[in-house]
Amino acid sequence: MDIGQAATLAELEAMVGSFEGCALKRTAKSLCFARGNPEARIMLIGEAPGRDEDLHGKPFVGRAGQLLDRMLAAIGLSEAQIYITNTVYWRPPGNRTPTPEEIEACAPFLARQIELLSPQVLVLLGGAAAKSILGTSEGIMRLRGKWLTYQCAGRSIATLATLHPAYLLRKPDEKRYAWRDLLMVKEKIEQK
Ligand code: URA
Repeated sequence: MDIGQAATLAELEAMVGSFEGCALKRTAKSLCFARGNPEARIMLIGEAPGRDEDLHGKPFVGRAGQLLDRMLAAIGLSEAQIYITNTVYWRPPGNRTPTPEEIEACAPFLARQIELLSPQVLVLLGGAAAKSILGTSEGIMRLRGKWLTYQCAGRSIATLATLHPAYLLRKPDEKRYAWRDLLMVKEKIEQK
C-alpha cells in the first residue's frame, strides 16, 4: 500500500478502509475516518472513536463531540469550517486508550491526511494526539496554550495542543484553559 499515492482524502479513506494492519479494525463496527469539511482551514485531531462514533462511523458525535461543537461555536466555527479526525480510525474495545502500536499503525495515514488537507491551523485534542503528532512525551498541561509547529511537505503548520473535551466533561473547572486555547485559534484564523 503506497499511502503517498492517495491523491485525495476520499482516496485515502478508501485506502484506510482496506488496511488490515491495525488490530482495532477487527473489533470495531465502523471506520471513523473524519467529520467536517475536506476543504477546511482548521483541522482537529482527537484520540480514538468511542461507542457513539463507532455506531455512526464519524468522529466526535457523542457527548465529548457535542461539547467540542459548542466550544467551537463559541469562537464562531461550525462544522463547515472544520475537519476532525482521530489518532486511530477504529474504536478501541471498551473505549480503552489506543496502544502505541495501534497509534503507530494509523500514523502514516494521519500524516497523509494532514498533508492532503493542508490546514492553516492544527488543533491537537489531548495528550494522545499531541504525542502522536508532535512525537513528544511531554504532558498536555505543559504543551497546551502555546503555538507549536508541525512540519508537513515543506510547510510549517501552526499547531496548538489543548485539553480533550472528554477530560473537560470530567473536569469542567478546567474549561477555562481550553477557552484560552480556543481564543488563540480564533485570533490566528482571523489574521488571514
Ligand atoms: N473522543 C475522541 O478522542 N474521539 C472521538 O471521536 C470521540 C471521543
